[in-house]
Amino acid sequence: MLFDFTEEQQMIRKAAKDFAVNECLPGVIERDERQQFPYDQVKKLASLGFMGMMVDPKYGGAGLDTVSYVLAMEEISKIDASVSVCMSVNNSLVCWGLEQYCTEEQKQKYLAPLARGIVNDKLFIGAFLLSEPEAGSDATSQRTTAIEMGDHYLLNGTKNWITNGGTASVYIVMAQTDAKKGSKGINALIVEKNWPGVTVGSKENKMGIRASDTHSIIFENVKVPKENRIGEDGFGFVFAMKALAGGRIGIAAQALGIAAGAYELALKYSQERYAFGKPINMHQAIQFKLADMATRIDASRLLCLKAAWDKDNNQDYSVSSSMAKVFSSETAMWATVEAVQIHGGYGYVKEYHVERLMRDAKITQIYEGTSEVQRMVISRAVIDH
Ligand code: CAA
Repeated sequence: MLFDFTEEQQMIRKAAKDFAVNECLPGVIERDERQQFPYDQVKKLASLGFMGMMVDPKYGGAGLDTVSYVLAMEEISKIDASVSVCMSVNNSLVCWGLEQYCTEEQKQKYLAPLARGIVNDKLFIGAFLLSEPEAGSDATSQRTTAIEMGDHYLLNGTKNWITNGGTASVYIVMAQTDAKKGSKGINALIVEKNWPGVTVGSKENKMGIRASDTHSIIFENVKVPKENRIGEDGFGFVFAMKALAGGRIGIAAQALGIAAGAYELALKYSQERYAFGKPINMHQAIQFKLADMATRIDASRLLCLKAAWDKDNNQDYSVSSSMAKVFSSETAMWATVEAVQIHGGYGYVKEYHVERLMRDAKITQIYEGTSEVQRMVISRAVIDH
């Protein structure tokens, strides 16, 4: 097994690191406090080609592999998880599915501008609308309806906790067309935000990733042309699951970055801070914490890269992405708590960044499938039914 990165992958990692340090670090605390969407940062990210990293260049993407995507997600998430979630959703939940399953016409109309991320010098990104007030983990219980009316669907319902909800120009919406068919009665539709009947609901006041843009979206008799359906009639649920399998690699890499960012800060602080006459990293209590953090973070990284490798090499990655996500997100939650502990009182105040990373870590155990959902996916695969 090879553990070396190609020159191109190393270059991408460096570009992402430079971007995070130079563009995201300044103002990250203030944006978190004010819940201010990082518009300039995400626009710059798009101009660097990071919003459609894996999309074929003929549709405006960068044509890179999933390993490069993991490396970039890790570096950006070390500094600003509000920026990286925006990048993750656009890359893997929106662009990947459009490239895999859309018609040429749909790709030209929607994928190309979404992969570039900028139209007429303005940010142009997408959002993925699956979750509902009463359908989170139980995603087949969609209440949003898309009723067939000849040449269009009539879309009604409410979607919740939508990342990029207020900023996105295009929504990929899962909706129930035929309830009798259960998961096979669900369709995925491409909906434009400025169509009549689409309303952006209030912005969520969140614990973490506070600068990211999370809204409910309401649809009232929205006419969606039939040509905006993705794939065959009834393909919507499988479409969502396949998109989420890739999305979970992105969120696993985000969690990895949050953990690694907290670890790097804790390591640095432990070298500078003295107690009982020596740097605190000369005390075994701190040394063992750092040793465990380094080990678990390395294990997370290996799982993320394994899932990315599976995807790049046309292997089934639905289980490896769930493994990467559950392990990395639980590592992120644990490692950020340890990082705050190592910082002591300083860790509890905003200037030292680790309290924000701790708050940001929590969502990685919830979105794009909770840890419990990941364990469902893994256990179904490992237990012979
Ligand atoms: N690929 C292909 N087909 C798949 C699939 C996959 N990865 N996963 C499921 N399917 C198929 C199944 O084979 C099944 O087909 P058959 O009926 O023909 O056998 C069908 O889809 C239904 O699947 P299940 O019976 O497994 O469905 P379930 O009701 O038991 O649910 C679940 C399975 C894994 C719990 C799923 O509902 C799930 O992943 N829930 C979590 C949803 C989620 O991740 N939400 C996150 C929202 S998005 C978000 O957070 C984005 C954001 O903004 C950041």
